[in-house]
Amino acid sequence: MSEKKTFYITTPIYYPSDKLHIGHSYTTVAADAIARYKRMTGYDVYFLTGSDEHGQKIERKARDKGVTPQKYVDDIVATFKDLWKLMDISNDGFVRTTDDYHVASVQKIFKKLYEQGDIYKSSYEGLYCTPCESFWLERQLKDGCCPDCGRPVEKVQEESYFFRMSKYAPRLIQHIKDHPEFIQPPARANEMLNNFLLPGLEDLCVSRTSFKWGIPVDFDDKHVVYVWLDALSNYITKLGFYSDDDSLYKKYWPADVHLVGKEIVRFHTIIWPIMLMALGEPLPKQVFGHGWLILEGGKMSKSKGNVVDPVKLCNRYGVDAIRYFLLREVPFGSDGVFSNEALIYRINSDLANDLGNLLSRTVSMIDKYFGGVIPAPGRPVAEQDDMILSLARELPQKVEQYMNELKIPEALEAIWALIGASNKYIDVTAPWVLAKDEANRERLGTVMYNLAEALRMVAILIQPYLPSTSPKMFAQLGVEGELTTYEACEFGRLKAGTKVCKGEAMFPRIDVKKELEELEAETLAAMAAPETNNRVPAETGAEPEASEEEYIDFDTFCKVKLKVAKVLDCKIVEKSKKLLQFTLDAGEAQPRTILSGIRKWYDDPEALVGRSVIIAANLAPRKIAGIESQGMILSAITGDEETLSMLTTMEDVIPGGSQVS
Ligand code: MSP
Repeated sequence: MSEKKTFYITTPIYYPSDKLHIGHSYTTVAADAIARYKRMTGYDVYFLTGSDEHGQKIERKARDKGVTPQKYVDDIVATFKDLWKLMDISNDGFVRTTDDYHVASVQKIFKKLYEQGDIYKSSYEGLYCTPCESFWLERQLKDGCCPDCGRPVEKVQEESYFFRMSKYAPRLIQHIKDHPEFIQPPARANEMLNNFLLPGLEDLCVSRTSFKWGIPVDFDDKHVVYVWLDALSNYITKLGFYSDDDSLYKKYWPADVHLVGKEIVRFHTIIWPIMLMALGEPLPKQVFGHGWLILEGGKMSKSKGNVVDPVKLCNRYGVDAIRYFLLREVPFGSDGVFSNEALIYRINSDLANDLGNLLSRTVSMIDKYFGGVIPAPGRPVAEQDDMILSLARELPQKVEQYMNELKIPEALEAIWALIGASNKYIDVTAPWVLAKDEANRERLGTVMYNLAEALRMVAILIQPYLPSTSPKMFAQLGVEGELTTYEACEFGRLKAGTKVCKGEAMFPRIDVKKELEELEAETLAAMAAPETNNRVPAETGAEPEASEEEYIDFDTFCKVKLKVAKVLDCKIVEKSKKLLQFTLDAGEAQPRTILSGIRKWYDDPEALVGRSVIIAANLAPRKIAGIESQGMILSAITGDEETLSMLTTMEDVIPGGSQVS
């Protein structure tokens, strides 16, 4: 028996410094779709993800929280694993950089590089960006700050070990030139060559003594290994590299694809290959740098407070809908924009209308016209049937070609072209007209068979992207066993006589207007009732404390105009379950309208008339439930959200006339 071809794919390992957001899920869902596709098409796949747990930032955060770094990372990593489970991520391994095998292997890697002279001891003076764990040269800074994240850098001086990167640079430059597939998309290869490699590589500082939370250099334990050396090694340590059992390493290395966000391509295509060259190991076949999922206004990030929670989205719309959106919306390699409108539009148009309707119409018609039994096809009518037959016959190869180039949105588009053509086929063949005349029975049977067969092929092909939708489709089509496999993804294999089984709508249509209003009201409620602590898992019970990253400077604080305002009127917003509408005298020419998501705490809105409250007056106005809200009323809320109180003044003060400070 011939051995299966192997395929090794990785995501970056995630920092447990923040709760994961939908942008992080993007990398993992994309890698999962590729891994599932490869498994389905016969490869022996190893799909690795994990967590990157060392570094000064984590040490500081743990200290701020009053827990050990290990406890801090353990709690957060548990939430990562839950998220991947929720999102149907089919990873074969999960590596933690605090795992023993990883620590031992990294120590051996470091020692080997030291013993062969590629790592040497010296002293370092330089500029370090703690959030990015990166060193920079003066000339690389942007306006004096980190060119990656824009935050200030710190001057550090310490005794350090250095890695002779420059020694390997010519070989790496040649490798990139000889292997155009190594860095993808190609523009990223040019960026690496022109911005980093060709101007000349500096030797890299690969140890730190100013903090402890890292892998100790075992022959000089004042030092811990630089986090990127530690982190990048995960791709081989999990496979048993430099351990007693390196069978997985022998089987799967070199990786077929390291899938990474564009901002970390540099580490993966310069430091990582040079490490491997120095170790005498083969280089990964490809590093693919994908774009970011952004919100209008920039990249999602916890420090900007504009993150979108994947758990909430999955619970609200279903995992497959979110997976589909991520995979379909962002051109692979470029940035894509996340918005509620775009998400709902995709769900309604592609999933509810195109796919969901096609299945339910087909199954209903087979029920109605053939007692639920798929009929045998008769003679094809070329000008009609060709429109789906030719698409269906070419589809598996088309998808394969796109997936080999990691063009996931294009692969989905190709599958949806068959779905679209099948819907059109129903309109063109008009089965309800055929059904009126017994003479058309054979033709009607052919149409039903073709539709069911196109749907069976779609159900097979969407498995990697929408893994829980496929089984629902097979169940409704009555298809099971071998006919659900990729090997049977060939038009005409469906057996006549199969009994269909009508089921629930797979993707119920969303009422766009109502949904957007509800989402806006929720956002507002969340703003009125700030999350007490969404970064520490509930079971730790630790109180949140600000860490440096969350401080704002005095000038930023002064930008918020707080005012005292008197409540002139307060009423329920009929369209919403959460909102109260306030009319306020803030000492201005016109009264202000402010909506606040605090209805559940105030049964009698009218009783609030006459109270003095504090408002943030210069918050940009926004429309919620069709009403423009012109600011925010400040409230205090208990951790369990049982009690909420609007902030008011102890003494009576003139509305708007007093500066709140
Ligand atoms: N720990 C490093 C990776 C080490 S790999 C040896 C790291 N971690 S991270 O948690 O900050 O990011 C992990 C991945 O999530 C990166 O590929 C990053 O690009 C990706 N994303 C984070 N935010 C993202 C978006 N908004 N959109 C798409 N991907 C994003 O970097």
